[in-house]
Amino acid sequence: MENIQLRQPNVEDGRKIWKLVRDTGVLDLNSAYSYLLLCKYFSETCVVATSGNQMAGFVSSFRPPSSPDTIFVWQIAVHDSHRGKGLGKALLQELLARKACKDVRFLETTISPSNTPSQSLFRGLARDLGTGCEVSECFQEDLFPGGTHEKEKLFRIGPILKRERGGGYKA
Ligand SMILES: CC(C)(COP(=O)(O)OP(=O)(O)OC[C@H]1O[C@@H](n2cnc3c(N)ncnc32)[C@H](O)[C@@H]1OP(=O)(O)O)[C@@H](O)C(=O)NCCC(=O)NCCS
Repeated sequence: MENIQLRQPNVEDGRKIWKLVRDTGVLDLNSAYSYLLLCKYFSETCVVATSGNQMAGFVSSFRPPSSPDTIFVWQIAVHDSHRGKGLGKALLQELLARKACKDVRFLETTISPSNTPSQSLFRGLARDLGTGCEVSECFQEDLFPGGTHEKEKLFRIGPILKRERGGGYKA
């Protein structure tokens, strides 16, 4: 994977992750503090992709305490200069290959109906893993304040039986 390093985040990355998420223009931007928390306390289930000093990509996730065989992907972002080259998928594959995901059998995330790139990413991951992708209703519009947020559908991928690091990132 040319010039790209995939690794666990540390607190020094928090600021750049916040900016990456802000610059996507489509993700809910959480507080800078929340990204620091992820870097400090959830680094085993988060991945950053760096290209020199640039934050090229980020995925955050956690193991829901009530679903021990599941990893829930919270946010994934790839800098627009690195999109369409397989980096989003490589971030997810790196996550699944981690020791922290050794006993994971299902990956869940929520996606809004208008986010075609994200739906393609997760459906493509399921296809590459040779497994299914079930879509169901999750968070309806009226659960969000302000009346401007789209609903979020639940994508559940699995059962996951194989993993491979790296994928086909084409820099
Ligand atoms: C979604 C996102 C992370 C994808 O990252 P990426 O590095 O460009 O994705 P990849 O190159 O790994 O592509 C993975 C698959 O999705 C498809 N895809 C990627 N961008 C696409 C687009 N704009 N339209 C249609 N399909 C797309 C690819 O063709 C590939 O399909 P394949 O598995 O059949 O080969 C990136 O577009 C992004 O950061 N978007 C803004 C933030 C966001 O929406 N995050 C997800 C919120 S739920």
